[in-house]
Amino acid sequence: MREGSELNEVMRVMLASIFTKQDNAVIMSANPEHDKSVKDFSLLKQVLKDYDPSEVSSETSPVDAMAGANYMWVGASAAEVIMTAIAASRLTEVNRVLDLPCGHGRILRHLVKMFPDATFDACDLDSDGVDFCVNQFNARPIRSQEDMTKVKFEALYDIIWIGSLFTHTSAEITKSWLSFLAKHLTENGIIVATFHGRIALELQKINPYIDEQKWSKIMDGHHSTGYGFADYSSDNKHGYISGSYGVSVAKPNGLMSILEGIPDVRIFMYQERAWANNHDVVVIGRPAWDDGLR
Ligand SMILES: C[S@@+](CC[C@H](N)C(=O)[O-])C[C@H]1O[C@@H](n2cnc3c(N)ncnc32)[C@H](O)[C@@H]1O
Repeated sequence: MREGSELNEVMRVMLASIFTKQDNAVIMSANPEHDKSVKDFSLLKQVLKDYDPSEVSSETSPVDAMAGANYMWVGASAAEVIMTAIAASRLTEVNRVLDLPCGHGRILRHLVKMFPDATFDACDLDSDGVDFCVNQFNARPIRSQEDMTKVKFEALYDIIWIGSLFTHTSAEITKSWLSFLAKHLTENGIIVATFHGRIALELQKINPYIDEQKWSKIMDGHHSTGYGFADYSSDNKHGYISGSYGVSVAKPNGLMSILEGIPDVRIFMYQERAWANNHDVVVIGRPAWDDGLR
């Protein structure tokens, strides 16, 4: 029989070894510099204090293509999504925000209330939309190009909000633009981007996005690679777009495989139907997935 104190010592050594193993598994103790910080929620608390959807301007442009009964609710839903993205990421301060594509400020009007001390850049191919955002929300104008990787942003962003752009681009363009934009993030900056997800298959039956022939092309890509796309016919495109622009639909696994290929970011969040009970939302950003281990 072992003495009580001897037994206690054996137990202590056993427990220490178990907990060390668990610690190793969780915190990767091989790297003594590993980031052990705990999320600071003060940014989120400040946003909740500053943002009141009832104080958001409802003055719209007469040529806003997004005008409709749900206009203000859709903007408020984006604000909700961005708050969730802040909680999910390592972001602790917001000094500069890019709204791309800004359209006529359906979301920007909410962003300026969420982050009253930040600077805003409004970027779109639609010059009238950019001008509206400059005049109404004091944004810095950035005229986009059809090949967006040619745009000179000349800034780094804490948040890049991309509402309903990749819902219109092929997998190749989506990956190339996301990779390009990821280079314009601050140390803890995030991209919050929306996509047509699985629900689009049901919505096509109720209110078609595109004709049946093009839809079946989208579905071919959707089934084979997890990301389907077809161009609009030229009479359905914005007059100022001559290149590729249409409808995309992504499966969660198709999107994930695109996101895995974006250098120097980590995947913070994937939420189905998070925006306006419709678009899926992805949050990627810095630090990179292998930060501190390279
Ligand atoms: C569906 S609207 C969304 C607008 C805005 N995000 C909103 O939610 O109200 C798509 C926008 O993408 C813009 N767009 C298309 N191609 C673009 C490009 N290469 N660069 C910037 N904006 C582009 C269009 O001009 C249009 O304003």
